[in-house]
Order: sequence, then structure tokens, then C-alpha cells
Amino acid sequence: MYRLLFDLFFRRLDPEKAHHLAFGWIRAAAAVPGLRGAVRRVLAAPDPALRTRALGLDLPSPFGLAAGFDKNAVGIDGLGMVGFGHVEIGTVTGQPQPGNPAPRLFRLTADRALINRMGFNNDGSAAVAARLAARPRRSTTVVGVNIGKTKVVPESEAAADYVTSTERLARYADYLVVNVSSPNTPGLRNLQAVDQLRPLLTAVREAADRSTDRRVPLLVKIAPDLADDDVDAVADLALELGLDGIIATNTTIGREGLRTDAATVAAAGAGGLSGAPLRERSLAVLRRLRARTGDRLTLVAVGGVESADDAWERILAGATLVQGYSAFIYQGPFWARRIHRGLAARLRAGGHATLADAVGAGVAPVRTPENETPENETPGNDAPGNDTPGSDTPENDQ
Ligand code: FNR
Repeated sequence: MYRLLFDLFFRRLDPEKAHHLAFGWIRAAAAVPGLRGAVRRVLAAPDPALRTRALGLDLPSPFGLAAGFDKNAVGIDGLGMVGFGHVEIGTVTGQPQPGNPAPRLFRLTADRALINRMGFNNDGSAAVAARLAARPRRSTTVVGVNIGKTKVVPESEAAADYVTSTERLARYADYLVVNVSSPNTPGLRNLQAVDQLRPLLTAVREAADRSTDRRVPLLVKIAPDLADDDVDAVADLALELGLDGIIATNTTIGREGLRTDAATVAAAGAGGLSGAPLRERSLAVLRRLRARTGDRLTLVAVGGVESADDAWERILAGATLVQGYSAFIYQGPFWARRIHRGLAARLRAGGHATLADAVGAGVAPVRTPENETPENETPGNDAPGNDTPGSDTPENDQ
């Protein structure tokens, strides 16, 4: 049904317009109380076996919507209504900004992928904080808040910009994410270097602690284009600073292995590639993080997750939470329900008593530091095939 709607209607629309239209429908449906309840009952009642405890939170399922879909926190409850166990809003920046000129979002339908160079278009942290403050108290959807750097703020003043957003937003966040991995803000990914990241994350942690009595879980979101050594370095830093977790990964600047013809890809131009072609590298980064950190961090897997099989593979590889974005565009409003049903079936079939038992069950136990950290993990019986992580170094060209 959605496939038909996509082929006959959405596919002919400009992708950004289609996004606003579809999101508008979700928000409109969620604004009608009777309808919201009815839709929620159909789409958003995951099997109780999928209940997940992560980051000190109780979530109805491990599967949520990745950042970038609801940049301004305007439709959280609608997105909860269509079944996402959590919704990560943002990226929100210190100051409001328009983002890059349109067109800035492109479909590569043959690859079930998107290219975007949105450039953090958002209302800014003051407006988004006001919106979050006005949410009805009975709203139950778990909300992650993803923050990034305002484009006009120089890299040398980045920390202050993140701190401003943290002071405004942390109190409304079930968890907070420092995004240093979008390819669409010049220089942003340089902040992933450990000597830049350490003071940034320390400043955000302190700002979060100042702004609310609650200890807000703090995570960092990384790019798939990091070299393997840099992935390890971020993992070590996260442990050193007592971070709660890592989100792996953002979009890639790579364009390898696409089915879409080269001219169409070139015409889309610069930006981050997401969807199916990102799957292998995102999974490889996740495996690397798990090998390095074991169960000492909460790992959130995102990038090319399309099906329950993909989500299950990430869980076995060590992800406690799984997110997606691009496949929502291609598969529509029943997507989260489909993932939930498939996950519940796999959980029952897989011989794991609880979902928590399945997390990381596809990799060999991680050796402790005394025991030295392994370079590569060995998959267990029910693990998907191991793959060799690529190490395409980011060219900082966007
Ligand atoms: C994104 N993504 C993103 N991530 C982020 O941290 N902040 C953001 O503002 C955005 N914005 C954004 C816009 C668009 C149009 C897309 C497609 C993606 C990245 C997203 O959260 C996710 O990490 C990647 O898209 C990979 O997941 P999928 O799409 O392959 O499931």
C-alpha cells in the first residue's frame, strides 16, 4: 500500500517537500486524540518482550528514530504514535540557522539511499527548548536531544556553542547527544579528534550537570568515515570521560558500491549518504566499538538498518539501541511495527531469555584491559559474517 503511494506520489515530489508533507500528516493525525490512540494501538504496541532498559531509561523497544527527521521537536508524539520506541530530535544548534540552499536532499531509489546536505537547518536551541518545555506532561515518548555547532561559530569557539545548547536543552532530554559527525557543517568532523573532543565533551558534561539535578546520559555520535584507529581513540575517550554511550554512525561522504548511475550521484553533489549502502561500514564500526569497550558503554547502532534482520544483527553485535531514518522514507508508517514484530520473533527463536541477553551475544566476550583488547572480535555461532572494516579517511571537503 505504502509502496504504491511512494511510487505514484512521493517519488514524484521533491524529497524535502515530501518529507514535510508526510510529517505534516503524522502530526495532524497525532493532534486528533481519538485517532492518535487508535493509530498508536495498531502501530505502537510492541511485544512486551522488547521492553528495554538503557541509559537508565525504560523504553518500550530498542528501536527508535534517528536524528534529523524531527530537527525542531515539532512531532515527537506523532512519531511515537507510529511506533518508534524513542525519538532523537535535532540536530539543534546554539543559534537558529537556515541550513544550506535547496535542493539539499536527494533520493537514490535504486540503492534505497539518500544523500543530504541539509546543513543543520533548525530553529535554534532557545526555540526548541521552549517547545520541549511546552510538551504535555503525560507524553511518554522517550526523547533524545542531539546538539551540534552553529555554522557561523568558528571551530575554536565550538565548545561554547554546544554549552549554550546544553544549558537550554539538557533538562528536557532523556539523553543528550554531541554530534560531531555531520559532513555538512564545515570543520565539524575535526571535532572528533580526541584532543578537540576531550574538552568539548567535558564542557558539555559540566553544563548538563549544572543545568539539572538529574544526571542526563551523554553520548557522542560518530562518522562511519573515521579510520579504525580513530574509532578506537573515541571509544577510549568515552570510557575515560565516563560517557554513557556512542551512536554509530552518521552518514558517509563515501559513494562506493552504488547501483545508481554515476551521473545521477554526481548531480546530487556533496553531502552525507545514508540508507542501505551504509550498512556494512556502520556495522563494522559497531563491532569495533564493542570489541574495544565490551559492555561498558551503551552502543546505539544506526546506518542502513532496513529490516528486523538488520536490527537483530546490530543487537547481536553489541547494540543496546538501534535507530533508523532512510528506510522510514522508503517503507512508510508500518516500518517500526514490522521491525518490532520481526525482533520479537527472532528473540523467541534465538534462545535468548531476554533482549538484554542477546546484546553482544554474537561476539566473543571482550577481554579486559589486563587481558589486552583484541584487534578483531570473533563471531559466535549466531553472528552474521565478520567483515573487514574499511578505513576511508575523511576528506574534509564539505
Ligand atoms: C540525517 N542524519 C542526521 N544525524 C544527526 O546526527 N543530525 C542531523 O541533523 C541529521 N540530519 C539528517 C538529515 C537527513 C535528511 C538524513 C537522511 C539523515 C543522519 C541520521 O541520523 C543517521 O545517522 C543516518 O541517516 C544513517 O541512518 P539510516 O538513514 O541509514 O537509517
